[in-house]
Amino acid sequence: ISTTTTSMIEAHTYLAKYYHHLLLNTEEGKEALQYLLDRGFTLEAIEKFGIGYSLERWDAVTNILQRRGYSLSLMEEAGLVIRREQDGNYFDRFRNRIMFPIHNLQGKVVAFSGRSLGEDTPKYLNSPETTIFTKGRILYNYHQSRAHMRKKQRAILLEGYADVIAAYKAGYEETIATMGTALTEEQAKTIRRTVDQVIISFDGDAAGISAAFKAANMLIQVGCEVKIAQLPEGLDPDDYVKKYGAEKFRTAIIEASLSFMAFKLYYLRQGKNLQDESVRMKYIHDVLQEVAKLNKPIEIEHYINTLSKDFSISVEALQAELSNIHRQTK
Ligand code: UTP
Ligand code: MN
Ligand code: MN
Ligand code: MN
Ligand code: MN
Repeated sequence: ISTTTTSMIEAHTYLAKYYHHLLLNTEEGKEALQYLLDRGFTLEAIEKFGIGYSLERWDAVTNILQRRGYSLSLMEEAGLVIRREQDGNYFDRFRNRIMFPIHNLQGKVVAFSGRSLGEDTPKYLNSPETTIFTKGRILYNYHQSRAHMRKKQRAILLEGYADVIAAYKAGYEETIATMGTALTEEQAKTIRRTVDQVIISFDGDAAGISAAFKAANMLIQVGCEVKIAQLPEGLDPDDYVKKYGAEKFRTAIIEASLSFMAFKLYYLRQGKNLQDESVRMKYIHDVLQEVAKLNKPIEIEHYINTLSKDFSISVEALQAELSNIHRQTK
């Protein structure tokens, strides 16, 4: 590990404490703290996740880093300050935001994500990719959840910071988050090295459902067993816990999560009038296409039998159709 890497991580570690202190102990941090409390973040969760606040100033962090002897050009490389083109002066990247420290897999602070207190865009301002931070390698909260994942023998995969914190309030510590981007193969392999089973609980919107499909396929590819939790339309885990409470989140969402196949069948059915014969035929064909992707004979037989019963079609006809699909996809 080079001295520049060490120095970048040291600066992040120091700033995480500084932001955390500003949030909890200063007049300037009061509004941000109130915002978090209003959202249902507990003081305990704020501690546990090291949440902080960055001042509404252009030079607070720049001055501190300079005073502590860090080279500002190195701090720019670390993504903490930005160099202004016109005069070459540096200014703070994060201003007037709720600060979420992001740790690498080993537990060192290597980046920040800053949430605006209002409707400012972007909603979350992130550290850029740097020599110490590659978003596609890190999973939010992995360093704290690893032992819990091992013990529970499963991981709960979420989209965002607030979801991890809401799940924590609901008693789940085996949680990790993708930070809103597509799950990479490297992240999937990291998860696979830790657990066999993953429950994906992404946002209940089109983007979340599509991301859940992709993440599930990636995880299956590396050998995980995947289940998918279904959130009501428009709600994410954090919204759900706030609206329906921790107990309902546990029983109706996480512990009621579906197998990937059941999840697919549910979504293929959405908004379709299966009374209509052509819609029904299309649906059966779509289901068989999913069945064709399965490897386990018992599972294949189970779904063929279910279709046969549900739609009064002979097992033979369904198997013939399945063979057609196999031939076409070869
Ligand atoms: P969401 O838009 O679902 O935000 O993005 P959220 O987590 O529910 O946030 P709140 O509840 O409004 O505070 C999911 C995740 O995508 C990343 C963040 O990691 C976020 O938690 N994201 C989102 C960004 O990096 N930048 C953005 O502007 C928005
Ligand atoms: Mn503290
Ligand atoms: Mn979302
Ligand atoms: Mn969300
Ligand atoms: Mn949210």
